[in-house]
Amino acid sequence: MSLELPRDFRWGVATSAYQIEGAVAEDGRTPSIWDTFCRVPGAVENGEDGDVACDHYHRMPEDVALIKTLGVDTYRFSVAWPRIQPGGRGPVNPAGLAFYDRLVDELLSAGITPWLTLYHWDLPQELEDAGGWPHRDTAYRFAEYAELVYAGLGDRVEHWTTLNEAWCSAWLGYVEGVHAPGRRDFADGVASVHHLLLGHGLAVQRLRAAAAAADRPIDLAITHILGNAVPASDSPVDVEAARRGDALHFRMYMDPMFKAAYPPDLIADLDAVGVSIPVQDGDLEIISAPLDTLGVNYYRSMKTTGFAEDGTTTTDEAGRPVTRTVDFGDRPKTYIDWEVMPDDFADLLVRIGTDYPGIPLVITENGAAYDDVPDADGFVDDQERTNYIAEHLAAVAQARRRGADVRGYFAWSLMDNFEWAYGYDKRFGIIRTDYQTQTRTPKRSALWLRDTIARARRPR
Ligand code: NOJ
Repeated sequence: MSLELPRDFRWGVATSAYQIEGAVAEDGRTPSIWDTFCRVPGAVENGEDGDVACDHYHRMPEDVALIKTLGVDTYRFSVAWPRIQPGGRGPVNPAGLAFYDRLVDELLSAGITPWLTLYHWDLPQELEDAGGWPHRDTAYRFAEYAELVYAGLGDRVEHWTTLNEAWCSAWLGYVEGVHAPGRRDFADGVASVHHLLLGHGLAVQRLRAAAAAADRPIDLAITHILGNAVPASDSPVDVEAARRGDALHFRMYMDPMFKAAYPPDLIADLDAVGVSIPVQDGDLEIISAPLDTLGVNYYRSMKTTGFAEDGTTTTDEAGRPVTRTVDFGDRPKTYIDWEVMPDDFADLLVRIGTDYPGIPLVITENGAAYDDVPDADGFVDDQERTNYIAEHLAAVAQARRRGADVRGYFAWSLMDNFEWAYGYDKRFGIIRTDYQTQTRTPKRSALWLRDTIARARRPR
């Protein structure tokens, strides 16, 4: 397959701290909201948690060696806030920082570029106890933590991502309550979005200044989970529901950053249910501080309808307009029940380039869970995952031809890991993790990716 991706296209694999590290009580780390949430009966499938996960904290050098065998140039990982700043306040914890110090050195000596994410959902529990993301002060705590990490690693790390998927932190964590901290309050979710974005903007300002003072290059990014809200039919009810969904799940995150304003239609929708975004003077200027890269995580798009399940009503019991997602129905699904729609991915990338021009894109996550069956040697012949990645890479190439400025692709994930509320059953790795023995075995998809990267780099 010829993908027509340029020779300098960035290739990577991605993970996050809580999903792989384990060692939750070592070297001064304190609990995050995920440690607490995992203890809530029924919160995570099978009562699982990240206590051991892939034991990466103790196996990091071997894991870096494995990354090197894939031929990727970049490794995206996240730093655990409660390792760096136990409790979320105060000075750096040298033992916690030392782990990432070693990781960065190991990567650099393997010729792999570190791509560091500051926040992949592990808020120190003490900050949640003090109010969490609905509380404005959390944004300032995040900026302080970002500065501490930069002071420790900024001499060797050029690529900095502030937040991973603020939508998941705010919506799944504070509105639906299916992710930590498991709260269910719409107004808290809305306030969380704003404070996450404010924390992002403050961190960008501080890291930009610190890099300039040290005369170092810096590539500053945020990663959003993005997908299209496609109306379920051309009925005005569905079209309007898709508009609402798009405002709440997509433009609410993108517009303040790239247009320095929340979408007026979103503000009106919120107003209608008596909720406002707690914006203070100067916030939007901070949030829209210039960025170098936009990270896009993509798994699926949403078909949106404004009709309630009985198909006749368009409001819920509280009289609010319905906005709910339904299956496309004609697409294959992954093991996590997400529909596969690479064509929509290409449209999405083109749309970002059109609606928010001028920002280079990197796909910081894309991948799929399948019900892998290992053979006697632990090898997984994951043709479906291989196809998924191949089709989405082809969509990236197609989007580039249509004008989208996509510069890289990172597979989610390096290895099977703790899939949040789904626990360990949903495997996203291109490398199999045997959780009994902690053996890692590259799957067919890993070998395919390695060969694809090698081909893309060959002189033409
Ligand atoms: C996005 C998240 O960033 C990551 O942590 C998660 O495992 C994948 N989606 C798959 O759900």
